[in-house]
Amino acid sequence: MNKGIFITFEGIEGSGKTTQGKLLAEKLKKEGLKVLYTYEPGDTEAGRHIRKILLNSEIKINPLCELLLYFADRVQHIEEKIKPCIESGFIVICDRFTDSTLVYQGYARGISIDLIKQLNKIVLDEFMPDLTVLLDCPANIGLKRNQKINKKDRFEMENLAFHEKVRQGYLKLAELYKKRFFVLDATESIDKIAEDIYRKVKSILSHGL
Ligand SMILES: Nc1ncnc2c1ncn2[C@@H]1O[C@H](COP(=O)(O)OP(=O)(O)O)[C@@H](O)[C@H]1O
Ligand SMILES: [Mg+2]
Repeated sequence: MNKGIFITFEGIEGSGKTTQGKLLAEKLKKEGLKVLYTYEPGDTEAGRHIRKILLNSEIKINPLCELLLYFADRVQHIEEKIKPCIESGFIVICDRFTDSTLVYQGYARGISIDLIKQLNKIVLDEFMPDLTVLLDCPANIGLKRNQKINKKDRFEMENLAFHEKVRQGYLKLAELYKKRFFVLDATESIDKIAEDIYRKVKSILSHGL
């Protein structure tokens, strides 16, 4: 059996990750392909408990605790869901992954990037996505979209400058890992972005990475 591929969606709040990840998953499923749509944090039984702590701004946690909780969730997610699905030929689409940690906890919150990279190495054994779709848009546009739907968790409470830092962090990563990143202008229409992502994924499926 052929191995599947691992695609992650990254970007600031309101950039369209969930919209685009789900559209891609539906399209590929309709073609009869095996697809798993999943997200971080929290898409396992243990993860659901961890997610409650991570996203509830009323629970006080220190930055290192937050970082380790993200990794705890991720390890469980990889071992329980992502790896087994990839081994059995699924296209795994994941809404946020370890780049989110590098950018939010590292670039934006100021935890050592080296420490996060070390954790990636030790905990994830350098297990990384084959393709990362980065939906890039100015922080004010993303936040405005989410205000409309009244979302307010730990990160959505942060100010505009924080989200701009997150955006710049993502762009830096995309520069560093050019081969893995596919950067799109998230201010374009939903249909246009969906089409670009679909074409990229189809090309990987037929010609390889
Ligand atoms: N390209 C786009 N143009 C305009 N609105 C969009 C676009 N992409 C997503 N939206 C809208 O913005 C809001 C946030 O999108 P969502 O996919 O939930 O973002 P994220 O998962 O990145 O936080 C939703 O109401 C969605 O319909
Ligand atoms: Mg989302």
